[in-house]
Amino acid sequence: MGGVGFAVSGRRGDDPTQYPGKLTWYVVMTLMAAAMGGLIFGYDIGISGGVTSMAPFLEKFFPSVYHNQMDDTSTNQYCKFDSQILTLFTSSLYLAALVASFFASTMTKKFGRRKSMMFGGLIFLVGAIINAAAVHISMLIIGRVLLGIGVGFANQSVPLYLSEMSPYNYRGTFNVCFQLMITIGILVANLFNYFFAKIEGGWGWRLSLGLAGVPAIIIIISSFFLSDTPNSLVDRGREEEAKTLLKRIRGVENIDAEFNDILAARNDARLVQNPWQNIFKSRCYRPQLVMSILIPFFQQLTGINVIMFYAPVLFKTIGFGSDASLMSAVITGVINVLATCVSIGFADRWGRRTLFLEGGVQMLIFQIAVAALIGAKFGVTGDVTELPKWFAILVVICICFYVAGFAWSWGPLGWLYPSEIFSLEIRSAGQSVNVAVNMFFTFLVAQVFLGMLCTMKFGLFIFFAFFVVLMTLFCYFFMPETKNIPIEEMTRVWRDHWFWKRFMDQPVTGANEMNRIELV
Ligand code: BGC
Repeated sequence: MGGVGFAVSGRRGDDPTQYPGKLTWYVVMTLMAAAMGGLIFGYDIGISGGVTSMAPFLEKFFPSVYHNQMDDTSTNQYCKFDSQILTLFTSSLYLAALVASFFASTMTKKFGRRKSMMFGGLIFLVGAIINAAAVHISMLIIGRVLLGIGVGFANQSVPLYLSEMSPYNYRGTFNVCFQLMITIGILVANLFNYFFAKIEGGWGWRLSLGLAGVPAIIIIISSFFLSDTPNSLVDRGREEEAKTLLKRIRGVENIDAEFNDILAARNDARLVQNPWQNIFKSRCYRPQLVMSILIPFFQQLTGINVIMFYAPVLFKTIGFGSDASLMSAVITGVINVLATCVSIGFADRWGRRTLFLEGGVQMLIFQIAVAALIGAKFGVTGDVTELPKWFAILVVICICFYVAGFAWSWGPLGWLYPSEIFSLEIRSAGQSVNVAVNMFFTFLVAQVFLGMLCTMKFGLFIFFAFFVVLMTLFCYFFMPETKNIPIEEMTRVWRDHWFWKRFMDQPVTGANEMNRIELV
């Protein structure tokens, strides 16, 4: 297998003698294919906001919402769009994904990462077909739940797959490709909505919902060709296969150091009967458990999905017409994709912490700016009829800077960081906790945002800014750097950390490094 041209070992790693290998084309292609899993999640995030603002869709499935909007003559901009039933349609997907992620944990551990991805793609495809053909609201909801199950499986398995398969000092780069696919999915969905809303006859929403099947087909086909990760193969007793695969993906014969670490991790893992009981009860997993809960919680409390779900509505509120609002959503979508590329280039060079901290400060500044602008113009009454163009453009610019800050920090790293910190024995369970917490707070933000805007007014942006301060402080004090550390040796970051080391004195299983089996 030909290498892409530079050796993995010693390029950026702390220990140049560790894990020799090349970045092979095989591993690059495999990782790109797997990252496609992000598309299905992104497409869903982007599609529902636009579809629910299409009048023919509302008239067919949510006639009361449609008529309320038509008859609404109030000028209070903060309270214009509050409709629980409509947001329930959007957010039901995230509840289904939450539940599914726990089932995905067992499947991912027992049958491998690849099967979970394939299953997720299949269920998602069925959901997309039912949604496109919907003639009744029940079909919409069933379709949405199936999409959610697909997302739960994909988000549980794909980040783990990417982190295990990547050479350790490229793990950031490849894992962030998952987020890149999420952002591309969101952008494509926004563009589709923009064009399909113009289709005469008002059936454009069917295309918007049905085309979700395309990313599903891509992930199903790709997962047919993917091999499972060496870590998962070893975990399931297929050691020889894992060894052959490691040689192939690293492009060298000498894979003993990496293979030994995986074996040691598997031996540790075998001492653990029940990963769920362990992750919640054993002190030595406390740092990993705390991260698996707080990272997705903080990621959602940045308030990013207010922009992703409601950008067209928000832009309408600040004075753009329908068309210009959808177009502005496309602009923030483009910024989201481009800024994610920064993280692809720098997560393994500057490290996770630098990006987390810079992104946090940037989001904070521009959230406060948006709050100040909206507060100045709308006041507490929200009674505005006419707003100048320059004002709307300034708000869009601030939102773009905020989105960029998220897109190279908490966006990609919110998926990367948890996927690389769990020890093998609790990896699958830990990732399920991460997905479930993420989906729960995505659901909550989607469900309560419009109501909160109505009561908290421009203060809502200050509310999210408060959490951005908290998460940035948390990162500064409690999140150790993980760049360039092999995934099966991650326990050392906790043992060396000023705070977390107190939990690492009595490991429930032997530490990997001590347990290493020498190969002859
Ligand atoms: C988050 C999503 C968000 C997206 C925006 C993802 O990392 O999990 O909730 O909508 O980024 O790009």
